[in-house]
Amino acid sequence: MPAVEMHGVSKTYRRRGRPPQRALDGLDLVVEAGGVHGFLGPNGSGKTTTIRVLLGLIRPDAGEVRLLDRPVPAALPQVIGSVGALVETPLFFPGFSGRLNLRLLADIAGLPYTRVDEVLALVDLTDRAEDRVKGYSLGMKQRLGIAAALLKSPRLLVLDEPSNGLDPAGIRDVRELIRRLGRDGSTTVLLSSHLLVEIEQVCDHVSIMARGRRVVTGPVGQVLASRSSGDVRVRVPHLAEAAAVLTAAGFAVSPADGGLLVHAVPAPGEITRVLAEHGHYLEELTPVTADLESAFLELTAEPA
Ligand SMILES: Nc1ncnc2c1ncn2[C@@H]1O[C@H](COP(=O)(O)OP(=O)(O)OP(=O)(O)O)[C@@H](O)[C@H]1O
Ligand SMILES: [Mg+2]
Repeated sequence: MPAVEMHGVSKTYRRRGRPPQRALDGLDLVVEAGGVHGFLGPNGSGKTTTIRVLLGLIRPDAGEVRLLDRPVPAALPQVIGSVGALVETPLFFPGFSGRLNLRLLADIAGLPYTRVDEVLALVDLTDRAEDRVKGYSLGMKQRLGIAAALLKSPRLLVLDEPSNGLDPAGIRDVRELIRRLGRDGSTTVLLSSHLLVEIEQVCDHVSIMARGRRVVTGPVGQVLASRSSGDVRVRVPHLAEAAAVLTAAGFAVSPADGGLLVHAVPAPGEITRVLAEHGHYLEELTPVTADLESAFLELTAEPA
């Protein structure tokens, strides 16, 4: 059973005196249960709108939405208790400690305080739990927000660009936390991001959005591999000889800043073998992935 299913979902924002904004244009999105599903798209592609529709915060104009196998918004009251979300920067009482803030939320939800300590440990805030929230870094506040979203042990956790605005250390902590949650297995995580590298680092599956539609979906490795060039950069001490050996073995080779570029290589290990057989030993063998970023830009580009 998928955690999220959206079919043909459209949403146009209409405000008096403004041109209508079509945010979703027949969106299809399926998030299978388990692991971390990335929801990647450039600014304004409709990620936040999708999440708002999913959580019943706004109504779509058309389409079908199912959350944990129940229709949304009709069955929202029955499922929303199993969904945790971090959509905007969470609001906490700045003068209270992280632990007290979570205890207040636990009181409202009828959860035991032992659960508060569990989620504090999960997000690695146990040591700072007694400090006031106003003394927390942005990254700590974000992790406290994720802790709050985790309180009721949700089956689905929705995070809308959780590393926005964080410094590199904060980003690393949040990404590590999300990876850990995905491995844990009891929660499906839907993570929106406009950063390809974040999706690569954290997600198992990805759906890429552009202009309110899904342009591609699948396991991250597969989606990215199908977009990578298949070129491999090779560095060896004797470039000309190595190039001759590789060409004789049937590879397409061209020189590239101090090394060789071997084109459309299905199995890079072949390069190692062929060169070693002729007494050339590799200093470097790197698949060329630099064009992933441009592939993403191409996929999501505005039509001219
Ligand atoms: N409340 C609103 N009123 C009018 N237009 C809106 C509103 N919210 C979003 N939009 C428009 O809908 C489109 C999609 O916006 P959305 O916020 O869903 O994109 P996003 O992918 O989350 O972008 P970002 O990466 O910048 O967060 C944009 O053109 C945006 O200007
Ligand atoms: Mg957004």
